[in-house]
Amino acid sequence: MSPESSPLLETRGLVREFDLPGGGLFGRRKTLTAVSDVSFAIGKGEILGLVGESGSGKTTIGRMVMRLLDPTRGQVIFDGLDLTRLSGRSLRRQRRRFQMVFQDPYASLNPRMRAGEIVGEPLVIHGLAPSARELREKVSRLLERVGLSSHDLERYPREFSGGGRQRIGIARAIACQPDLLVADEPIASLDLSIGAQIINLFSSLNKTERMSLLFISHDLSVVRYLSDRVVVLYRGRMVESGPTRTVLDTPVHPYTRLLAGTSSGTPSETQNGGDEPSGSLCPFLTRCPEALPVCRESMPPSLENSECGRQVLCHLVAGHSPWKSSASPSSSQGSP
Ligand SMILES: Nc1ncnc2c1ncn2[C@@H]1O[C@H](COP(=O)(O)OP(=O)(O)OP(=O)(O)O)[C@@H](O)[C@H]1O
Ligand SMILES: [Mg+2]
Repeated sequence: MSPESSPLLETRGLVREFDLPGGGLFGRRKTLTAVSDVSFAIGKGEILGLVGESGSGKTTIGRMVMRLLDPTRGQVIFDGLDLTRLSGRSLRRQRRRFQMVFQDPYASLNPRMRAGEIVGEPLVIHGLAPSARELREKVSRLLERVGLSSHDLERYPREFSGGGRQRIGIARAIACQPDLLVADEPIASLDLSIGAQIINLFSSLNKTERMSLLFISHDLSVVRYLSDRVVVLYRGRMVESGPTRTVLDTPVHPYTRLLAGTSSGTPSETQNGGDEPSGSLCPFLTRCPEALPVCRESMPPSLENSECGRQVLCHLVAGHSPWKSSASPSSSQGSP
């Protein structure tokens, strides 16, 4: 599963702000920055895990990658094409190449459509099934690929278990043989053994069909098992990234250390007093058990260890070999 050199997907300095209610006619507009300066790449055939607690911006990133949501700033480059500049027909043409599997398999399936119609719809939309017979054959093969059978063609989503519904969602997502799957907490609503089967299905799609995956999860053990590299998010910022085992076995950022259980603090502790840190300071400041005086004065630098492809946003290792300053992509490549 060694990734090739040119990435399939690249995000450059992604930012997403949301307007908050209030502000009034003459008041200042209030915004929430859900995602801030997020840059990562996924190689062909590679699995990237995106982890972070609830509200850290995982789904917002997934939706921007899928072009279901416009970034406030930054770019999404897919196979060399800037998706943020595509619209209309040129975007539709690319759409079959990246697909999403949603967290809630029930809400994401049309309850009035049968499984066969749900899975076959993208094939019809993209003109990939010229005859009804061919469509039925292709859909049956897809259902079998995800562990269902042609007997399920006529059944409605409500007649399936949670795992069965998630399989329908996956069959629909892979119908047009996408190059990239964005899977947003795809096993969060399933019980353990069914979740494990679905994880094995993703692993098999990656190995046999060479599908790249952006795997969004808050479950570190699943991310450790499945992904080649990991991005750790905290309040919309990438605090650490790199090869999964290296990052999770020897985490550098105090938040990753708490997540990975290699530090004695608890992730919910409020430390260092005060309210939420301002946008110009470390997002983890109020919860950091290891904060330095400098953390209260300036934003941590983005540092990289190029020997093993790791990055971290933290004052703690600034000036320590082998960490070197890495240029922030948003400052040079972000577009309004
Ligand atoms: N459409 C929206 N309007 C306003 N705020 C939003 C919108 N979508 C997301 N947010 C806010 O952006 C932040 C990130 O949300 P997001 O859903 O991306 O987090 P998440 O990491 O996927 O969380 P979870 O693990 O709970 O799914 C949250 O504070 C959320 O309330
Ligand atoms: Mg989410």
